[in-house]
Amino acid sequence: MKKIIALLLALTLMCGAMFTLTSCKEDKEEDKAQQGQDNTETPVAPKKLVVATSPDFPPFENLVDGKVVGIEVEILELICAELGYEIEFAQIAFDSVIPGVQTGKYDLGVSGISVTPDREKNVLFTTPYCLAAQCIVVKTDSAIAGKADLTGKTIAVQSGTTAEAFCLENDYTVDSYEANADAKTALTTGKVDAWVVDDLTAAEMCKGDSTVKILGEHMTTEPYAFAFNFEDEVLVMKFDTVIEKLIANGKIAEIFAKYDAPYTAPSAN
Ligand code: ARG
Repeated sequence: MKKIIALLLALTLMCGAMFTLTSCKEDKEEDKAQQGQDNTETPVAPKKLVVATSPDFPPFENLVDGKVVGIEVEILELICAELGYEIEFAQIAFDSVIPGVQTGKYDLGVSGISVTPDREKNVLFTTPYCLAAQCIVVKTDSAIAGKADLTGKTIAVQSGTTAEAFCLENDYTVDSYEANADAKTALTTGKVDAWVVDDLTAAEMCKGDSTVKILGEHMTTEPYAFAFNFEDEVLVMKFDTVIEKLIANGKIAEIFAKYDAPYTAPSAN
């Protein structure tokens, strides 16, 4: 009997020891996992950026089968892959992009946004990644040959754009549309005499359309950048580092080439 009691006692002790050992191991693993959260080397779940965009601006952002695609989308994807962010697009009208970023409704604006002194008062821009220009689109048979012929004419523009600001500053009669496609239709249906829009978007939207022509005269030079809230200074610095790298290693030029769009680097200014 004594032997049986001793055996049971020994068994109980052994089980107890084993339990302590495993729970110690588990504790250690838990500790490790917790430490991992403070350790920058351990991959953490990617954070998400809500990106305001007006996807009516090919080749920069456009809807294909309901998906936002284009040059800026690809640049943004490269940056976010490097910085560990996921992207969620919020599709909105162009003139709501900057106000939405300014009030913090969206994390950033990616919408072919030109950097202007006025906008710099409201949002924090990243370093520019390219240069663009405003150009004039007219009907193929139009007598308008350049900026000088625009006086007294009605011009279609997209609301809230630098094209609109430029035309208003020059006292042209302006017809503003929420979507670029509607501004173009106003031209092709003869509602307006000209359409002022960014050069690469004009080229893309007029491709294969013999009823319209793009005039050679450029009216402005405008750097494109991504827009953030002033509070996001640290994130903007991180974006800048990656943008500078992607300009220097030719990745941005490569993306433009993929879309058949001539690339002008910001330093070419
Ligand atoms: N670059 C021009 C601007 O900043 C036009 C941008 C229009 N963008 C768009 N996604 N529709 O005003």
